[in-house]
Amino acid sequence: MSSPVITEEGTFALDVEQGLSNYPKRLPSKYFYDAIGDQLFQDIMAMPEYYLTNCEFEVFSEQKANILEAIGDQPFELIELGAGDGTKTKILLEHFLAEQRDFTYRPIDISGNVLEQLMTACAQTFPQLEVAAVEGDYIEALCQIQEEDNPRRKVVLFLGGNIGNFPLPAAKAFLQELAQCLDEGDLLLTGFDLKKDPNVIQAAYDDPAGITAAFNLNLLQRINKELGGHFDLDTFFHWETYNPLNGEARSYIVSREEQTVKIDQLHLNVHFEAWEAIAVEVSAKCGERDIAELAQEVGFEIKANFTDQRRYFMDSLWELK
Ligand code: AVI
Repeated sequence: MSSPVITEEGTFALDVEQGLSNYPKRLPSKYFYDAIGDQLFQDIMAMPEYYLTNCEFEVFSEQKANILEAIGDQPFELIELGAGDGTKTKILLEHFLAEQRDFTYRPIDISGNVLEQLMTACAQTFPQLEVAAVEGDYIEALCQIQEEDNPRRKVVLFLGGNIGNFPLPAAKAFLQELAQCLDEGDLLLTGFDLKKDPNVIQAAYDDPAGITAAFNLNLLQRINKELGGHFDLDTFFHWETYNPLNGEARSYIVSREEQTVKIDQLHLNVHFEAWEAIAVEVSAKCGERDIAELAQEVGFEIKANFTDQRRYFMDSLWELK
């Protein structure tokens, strides 16, 4: 499993230094995903409280035919941003192949390793599938595909609710950049976690088994390992809030006491007041109106929406105008 959100190598030290020197403190959630973080994220996706993965799985299983119909008849390049292990995408791939559609699968991931594993898995499961992976930053890789001047329509997948990990202005900026690497008529299928009973959302990000807490606190462990940090994890805890008004679930790491933590490689002493927090993640939930407004603001038109039975999650298909 790769990082679900885009990462740039070499910026970890800089981002940690900057994020922990600021007030309030913050650390980007893209750094959750080292080897331990990847495993903990797999554990999160298997938790009964974390509904997102199963919901999108249901959307694809139940609506693959409708999704293909909305995509249309013409040949296309199926581009997936942050392909990971492709578990959910396999449902679509299998259906598109069964329907004998003319398409090439173009997974994009920052990790060449992940892409190699994915290509091996695809070759085994779908020997007839044409795969042309691109390693790199989402936008750069997408623009690289754009420069191929291939006349086929691009259908971009950005699944799993990853868009919610961008604060709204950053989500808009990302989608606008993405649109610049697309042509009029190209499609984007994005997964959005919908607003729902706040209790359901709160439980998904603050599970009783403490898996999400371990996932978040692993970020401090990562600083200890990679940057010579001296965080004592027992003196910090995970705190989650969900704001039903703006739909933001936010994760924090809170210091239980006043303390100063040394980070050797940064030559940095980070001072925490008692109960001072580090903001580590936003996971935004949307209403249908939010999604419609977002699509319009970044230059797309909604072609179709696909939801699970409980209307917990929505994959929204947009066309670039
Ligand atoms: C990757 N991303 C969509 C997850 C989410 O739901 O925001 C990351 C996550 N954080 C805590 N649990 C899961």
